[in-house]
Amino acid sequence: MVRKLIAGNWKMNGLKGTGGELARDLAARARAAAPDCDLLVCPPAQLLFPVGEALAGGPVRLGAQDCHAEPSGAHTGDIAAPMLADAGCSHVIVGHSERRSNHGETDGLVRAKAEAATAAGLTPIVCVGETEEERTAGRALAVIESQIRGSVPEAGGAEVPVVAYEPVWAIGTGRTATSGDIAQAHGHIRALLKSIYGEEAGGTVRILYGGSVKPDNAAEILAVAEVDGALVGGASLKAEDFWAIAASCP
Ligand code: PGA
Repeated sequence: MVRKLIAGNWKMNGLKGTGGELARDLAARARAAAPDCDLLVCPPAQLLFPVGEALAGGPVRLGAQDCHAEPSGAHTGDIAAPMLADAGCSHVIVGHSERRSNHGETDGLVRAKAEAATAAGLTPIVCVGETEEERTAGRALAVIESQIRGSVPEAGGAEVPVVAYEPVWAIGTGRTATSGDIAQAHGHIRALLKSIYGEEAGGTVRILYGGSVKPDNAAEILAVAEVDGALVGGASLKAEDFWAIAASCP
């Protein structure tokens, strides 16, 4: 069994004061007793340095929410993967559904970002997930499959990505997929990853579930087959809730 990863996606939330306080709270909890899983927080870019400083030396790692596909250049407003590595990140989320829909990111672009992350020594967390309309039309697995095939890094590199399955209709809505639906999606993703990266490497890719993961549903979700952790949005903004989710790791 792969060690679980609980990742917090702060999205566009947090100023120096509130973000720093949240990071210090998490660091203090980690010093007192670290749960039996890997922990990661992905603050907005302007907080990477102060949050990284607050977490330094502890088990909670630092991640970013997006990166550009190029390592440097004339791309106003963007952040390159080597900059994130330089800021102390170990991971970067790519292809979150909010970026796919708000910024028109395609599978091809997401793959280029994921490969740029890997080249910079970061682990990309590649997000996939169907919309409600696609699920109702019975196309959930087909959509997930084409996103996986189009957006995870090509096989051949030494490193494998993390994949996050996040049904779009479950993000920020308080609705979660049923355990049966999660098991089906994760099982399908596992089989695909094995066919892409090979039986062994594909078996080690962590597949996170995301979409309204809260302290009161985390234990059930984290116990589902092939769920190797969670990508947590709203509940990651409260240290107590994030910690309770991490403590739910079986
Ligand atoms: P949520 O967000 O936990 O607020 O639903 C999850 C995500 O978008 O990563």
